[in-house]
Amino acid sequence: MLKLENVSKVYRTTEVQTLGLDGISLTIQDNEFLAIMGPSGCGKSTLLNILGLIDQPSSGSYWFYGEDVARYTEAQLTALRRTVGIGFVFQSFNLIDDLNVAENVEVALIYRGIPAGVRRKRIAHVLERVGLSHRAKHMPQQLSGGQQQRVAVARALVCEPKLILADEPTGNLDTANGEAVMELLEQVAAGGTTIIMVTHSEIFAARAQRTVHLLDGHIVTQDLAA
Ligand SMILES: Nc1ncnc2c1ncn2[C@@H]1O[C@H](COP(=O)(O)OP(=O)(O)OP(=O)(O)O)[C@@H](O)[C@H]1O
Ligand SMILES: [Mg+2]
Repeated sequence: MLKLENVSKVYRTTEVQTLGLDGISLTIQDNEFLAIMGPSGCGKSTLLNILGLIDQPSSGSYWFYGEDVARYTEAQLTALRRTVGIGFVFQSFNLIDDLNVAENVEVALIYRGIPAGVRRKRIAHVLERVGLSHRAKHMPQQLSGGQQQRVAVARALVCEPKLILADEPTGNLDTANGEAVMELLEQVAAGGTTIIMVTHSEIFAARAQRTVHLLDGHIVTQDLAA
């Protein structure tokens, strides 16, 4: 379970102070598929970064599977991210251009010190799962946007994460490719992984179990799926 209590995030530069999040309290159950919506600048990415241990709240507490991590150091957060396994998927795919599909997925495993033989098996398995076994040797530029995003999902999945954070994963995709990525995330959620997905699509959000609407850094409403 993930639990935010009165979490705020202030960004300070020499000139100005911006309130990224303003008193967020939110509990996310294990195996939940949660959507986050709201206008540009309302704090969606800030919230995901805090949930994913990429960034720290300025105040409030964050219970991450039972540990209060709000005051953790950078090193503690990195260690925890590694043990729990958190998969990230971004709007812009963020694949490495000079590495082929299999190698892009492999990076996540090398980072974790997984031996080569195990890496090969896990890469083959995860590429099968996202329907891209036949593209393992392709370079990212040789793939459609939807295929690139499926590689990014494979890279997130290969470490068998408990939690996947997706920041507008279908934002750069046409309807058909967006649908394919959405179906893939639904399958992953059905397999027991917690998914938190930022989206601008009402239709995709309605397929999550719950939608949280943000405005100016706070939660305005929460809808349960019909
Ligand atoms: N590193 C930063 N430094 C200063 N201000 C920031 C930083 N990151 C975000 N902000 C500010 O915090 C607020 C929330 O930003 P955030 O990126 O979370 O919005 P968002 O909801 O993800 O928007 P979008 O839909 O455009 O991606 C904005 O006002 C933004 O300008
Ligand atoms: Mg954003």
